Amino acid sequence: MKITRSDVEAMDARDPLAGCRGWFVLPSGAIYLDGNSLGAMPRATPERLAQVVEAWQRDLIGSWNRHDWIGWPRRVGDRIARLIGAQPGEVIVADSTSVNLFKLLAAALQCNPGRRVILTETDNFPTDVHVAQGLARLLGGGVELRAVDAAGLAGALGHDVAVLMLTHVNYRSGAMHDMASFTAAAHAAGALALWDLSHSAGAMPLHLDEAGVDLAVGGSYKFLNGGPGAPAYLFVAGRLIGLIEPALAGWMGHARPFDFDTAYEPASGIERFLVGTPPVLSLAALTAGIETFDAVDLRQARAKSVALGALFRRLVQQECHEPGLRLVSPDDPERCGSQVSYAHPEGYAIVQALIARGIIGDFRAPDVLRFGFAPLYVRHVDVFEAVMALGEVLATRAYADPRFRVRALVT
Ligand SMILES: Cc1ncc(COP(=O)(O)O)c(C=O)c1O
Repeated sequence: MKITRSDVEAMDARDPLAGCRGWFVLPSGAIYLDGNSLGAMPRATPERLAQVVEAWQRDLIGSWNRHDWIGWPRRVGDRIARLIGAQPGEVIVADSTSVNLFKLLAAALQCNPGRRVILTETDNFPTDVHVAQGLARLLGGGVELRAVDAAGLAGALGHDVAVLMLTHVNYRSGAMHDMASFTAAAHAAGALALWDLSHSAGAMPLHLDEAGVDLAVGGSYKFLNGGPGAPAYLFVAGRLIGLIEPALAGWMGHARPFDFDTAYEPASGIERFLVGTPPVLSLAALTAGIETFDAVDLRQARAKSVALGALFRRLVQQECHEPGLRLVSPDDPERCGSQVSYAHPEGYAIVQALIARGIIGDFRAPDVLRFGFAPLYVRHVDVFEAVMALGEVLATRAYADPRFRVRALVT
């Protein structure tokens, strides 16, 4: 039966998370399906930033102690731990996801000294692969990055693999790995498991400790709504922290940074993975992002994004009859993260035509149109409007307008 606007309005009326949308600032006239790339701004963010600015003016350097700025990476890390199924003391906020990957890949090689292979997936996010390539080059001595396609991963877990490095939800297709079973397979083969959670944390419940995950990294500017360039986080299972001598050692990871001792002694806890001074303004914005999850049941968030993904797929079947459009996400939204992706040879221009109509999704080379469903603020009616616009852009070939072919620096 045809899905109508009033059907989707009824879905919004039943949505237990409908009230969360009010916690965010969303420009009128825009339908934002890009929270999987840069989350919308929480209403509380300007106030959080203003508090730090005020403290900086008033208390100057004393703020590091008076407002415990020095403790923020750990405090915010503890709050992220709750969202990813980890214990307090297993997560710290620092640096970028890329830099944290470097730290934890080096740690994995250190924990598994007889083995020299980093196993990953060919279609992993480029930075994950670049970091592993750089580390292998630096270490020489037979350290090798082995990249295979998803279907070949289990078979490639040989006795030389030190670490299996995977991104939980693929940035392009949205396909989601089974974290528990890949972690178990890595362990059975004597390897560690390192997960990149950039496209999953904040969109679904995660159970890192329960799954026995060893190491993980993730970004906080997507579903965690931390703001542009928000600092990333890393997770190290409590049982491993004391075994790792950080390769990227820095004074903030020292047991006593303010002794100014040039002999490096790592902090006893997760703080050893800090390197330099924490970005306090960015941490303040991230705090506002993390607080949006205080009253949210992530099981409800997941149920909503699966429902939005299913609705999008059904509406595309109903409204978009252009033969060039092809679903690249799994058919089953349960096997997908909080996004859906389609390929089309004119993908870039189609996304631009949609943006011109106020529907903000994004394009991923070479030909992928990607639509993200941040479950706290995307409505069923937004999905309806987006697919109606997509159908119109395809049917009228509005994407053929030369304006929509001008490539932006950031896509
Ligand atoms: C899966 C994944 N990993 C890593 C990154 C890069 O993160 P950062 O820029 O914080 O290093 C991204 C960025 O989009 C990503 O999607």
